[in-house]
Amino acid sequence: VTPTPEVARSRSRRRCVCAEASLVAIGLLTLVAGGVASAIEYEWDLPRGFPPPRVPEDNPMTIEKIVLGRLLFYDTRLSGNQTQACASCHRQEQAFTDGLDRAVGSTGEVHPRSSMTLTNVAYGPTLAWANPLLRDLETQALVPMFGEEPVELGLAGREGELLDRLAAHRRYQRLFVEAFPQDADPFTIANIVRAIGSFVRTLISGNTSYDRFVFGTGTLSSSAINGGRLFFSERLECFHCHGGFNFTGSIVFEGQRFDEILFENTGLYNLDGAGAYPIPNRGLFEITRKPEDMGRFKPPTLRNIELTAPYMHDGSIATLEDVLDHYAAGGRTIHQDPFAGVGSENPYKSIFVVGFRLSEQERADVIDFLKSLTDLEFVSNPAFSDPFEPVTCPGDCDDSGSVTVEELVRGIQMALGGSPLALCLSFDPNADGEVDVVELVGGVRAALDGCA
Ligand code: HEC
Ligand code: HEC
Repeated sequence: VTPTPEVARSRSRRRCVCAEASLVAIGLLTLVAGGVASAIEYEWDLPRGFPPPRVPEDNPMTIEKIVLGRLLFYDTRLSGNQTQACASCHRQEQAFTDGLDRAVGSTGEVHPRSSMTLTNVAYGPTLAWANPLLRDLETQALVPMFGEEPVELGLAGREGELLDRLAAHRRYQRLFVEAFPQDADPFTIANIVRAIGSFVRTLISGNTSYDRFVFGTGTLSSSAINGGRLFFSERLECFHCHGGFNFTGSIVFEGQRFDEILFENTGLYNLDGAGAYPIPNRGLFEITRKPEDMGRFKPPTLRNIELTAPYMHDGSIATLEDVLDHYAAGGRTIHQDPFAGVGSENPYKSIFVVGFRLSEQERADVIDFLKSLTDLEFVSNPAFSDPFEPVTCPGDCDDSGSVTVEELVRGIQMALGGSPLALCLSFDPNADGEVDVVELVGGVRAALDGCA
């Protein structure tokens, strides 16, 4: 006999109460056994062929810092006028770029350059398009926060205000203490950038059809295979600057002997016939003032390149086809002022940008190859997504779409202060830094009835 709806409901209600009671008991037992955990070391889950990234000694990777960093990365409290976050210019669905030719800051100021992908930026020996002095992600984060030329997040002179704003928030009160348990006052700028740097370092991407093909677990179209052959050929020369597991010759990792630092001039401009690039985008020259550094930029990774248009340091090339034409011509020719000039005759151009001819089919092949470097898992990975989105499945700590008993136990431990909140923000949908009974019951419901 099928039970009437009333009976079914009261049964499941009874089941709920029992489940809650026993879970609370399990939680209490584990709490007595466990005690408060200190910072939990992060274990890299690297794609095949990827070496471990180099991590600064004074900022080891912990789960608590990464979770805090993810919140800060997406939090508009991190701009002077609270309109912008890192994520405004680095959007996950666009492989952490913004789709603009040049980025626009929180006050509307236009950045001279295009926002860069954060794909595998943990492996960058230098950061930004052409800054040999910017060597780690912690220092880099200070640039958008406090930089004034141009203004990005607009926090210069507002350090105290920023710290007060974050410290006023209850969830941050708990998460900063968890991330920096040794500090009497964890609310410091140094800790903010430590957390953000830790999160950004986890943005690793290596699950593409190209990778699956290379490791024998997937196929590629014959067009993409042929495009790869061309890419790695002495005819096109792409691999000299975009080689290696991250498709860039600018690379650092743990255990590497020498950082491979690379800046190259690809002949995009030649304003005066003597090689000039437009101010203030003269590349490495802006910093070193050495003539031979004119127009030299870091070769970006080509992973996820399909998602990061427009291209080049100033977003001046709209499509991948146009990028290929630029290289085929051995440099770009611009006919109209103010940037008129024959880039292929730029005296500082790399010897590897010589030009080549491609048939229509070959051109399509190279594009297909570049598109095989797209990692769809990366751009939809919940661990990298906006943590301010409403919680759809309370207690689903690992975003698996369901809540397990282990997750419920964790929720109870968090409620009792015996486990870091950082392990499961989804048990705190109201973001007050506490897991209360209502939130626990929400988790139990999701465990029993499934996620909505
Ligand atoms: C206004 C848009 C904007 C905001 C906001 C912004 N960025 Fe960027 N980001 C850029 C631009 C533009 C560049 C290239 C800068 C350059 O070359 O001068 C960049 C470069 C970077 C790089 C270097 C990437 C590489 O491959 O070298 C990292 C890392 C980065 N941003 C992280 C962040 C973080 C973390 C935040 C928040 C604290 C942030 N960005 C906020 C626009 C932005
Ligand atoms: C001499 C080194 C060098 C060679 C050879 C080279 N590149 Fe590049 N590549 C660069 C540099 C440097 C940049 C950035 C240039 C700039 O912004 O001014 C770049 C930019 C790009 C971009 C745009 C990246 C972005 O995020 O905006 C693409 C796509 C690209 N290259 C593809 C190729 C392909 C395909 C080939 C072979 C046909 C090739 N490159 C050959 C150094 C090189």
